[in-house]
Amino acid sequence: MAECFQTETENKKRFTIPLKQIPRFSVNDSQANALINSREPVIITDTHLVSSACNWDLDYLSRHIGDGLFTVYRSKSHKFKYYSDKKSLAIKEFTPPTSQEEMPFQEFVNLIKSHPKSSSERIYLQQALNNSVGPKIVEQFVNFNWSYVTGLQRSNNWGPLTSNLLLVGMPGNVTPVHYDEQENMFAQIRGSKRLVLFNPDQFENLYPYPVHHPHDRQSQVDLDNPDLNRFPNVTRLCGYEGVVGPGEVIYIPMYWWHQVESMTDSEENISVNFWYMAGNNEKIEYPLSAQQKVSMTRNIEKMILQALNDADEVAPFMRMMVLGRYT
Ligand code: SIN
Ligand code: FE
Repeated sequence: MAECFQTETENKKRFTIPLKQIPRFSVNDSQANALINSREPVIITDTHLVSSACNWDLDYLSRHIGDGLFTVYRSKSHKFKYYSDKKSLAIKEFTPPTSQEEMPFQEFVNLIKSHPKSSSERIYLQQALNNSVGPKIVEQFVNFNWSYVTGLQRSNNWGPLTSNLLLVGMPGNVTPVHYDEQENMFAQIRGSKRLVLFNPDQFENLYPYPVHHPHDRQSQVDLDNPDLNRFPNVTRLCGYEGVVGPGEVIYIPMYWWHQVESMTDSEENISVNFWYMAGNNEKIEYPLSAQQKVSMTRNIEKMILQALNDADEVAPFMRMMVLGRYT
């Protein structure tokens, strides 16, 4: 078990979150598919999923990706915590932790190249690949190993592919711990990323924001410096970690928590993810899986919120239902 996340609390007591290594297998090893089938994370070393894009770097992309617009996030720190624009309108006191703007790829490259090393501000491009890309990129995209991912989609009853998100970031950028509601085959192209993952059964230990909050699906806990008074269950956390390098793919199952850190082995960090919707023919078996319980929790929260039509009424309503009756 690796010693990781040496964490310093206010009273200077240190604790570590125990992390096991995410298994790594060749695509030819049946254990890789077995883990995907049982919705467990795995790093697969040689899928050739995005080999056709192995020459992508800032210069190559700025020459060939076309003149479409790309979403670029700016953060005053190394953290890029996602928030929903739509949900932020409903919360008066919400201050977005990052700002975002649309710009041509070339402008993003200029920003990166002129970025002062001393500045704590960082940028992170995150844009779904679309039909504005130039012909060379189209050809490389067509030559992704589609038969591999489509085979997985079929054998695991995943829903349709929703998007291929291109992520281009700076060394040290961190996407803090959150979960997604899609299956993710995450392919690394340039530089390495360290991923820390937690099973969906760690829901109570990671204190996700309420569903109506702009930070829905994100943990309220800062893993680097958790507030143990507010989030005491953090001391019960145990998870997984692994590093994906160029040419490697990690399967991040739906509802698995993940924090993603761009390592400092390369000036630029490039990844492409393959997001698939949940399949709709899932068998209900008891006891329910942690994934199913998270999904159920979300649906119940949304239903109560919709019925009450006031986020402030949700907690008192839930307390009234449970306290002194089920407790
Ligand atoms: C990242 O690579 O920084 C985030 C990817 C994800 O959360 O899916
Ligand atoms: Fe994610």
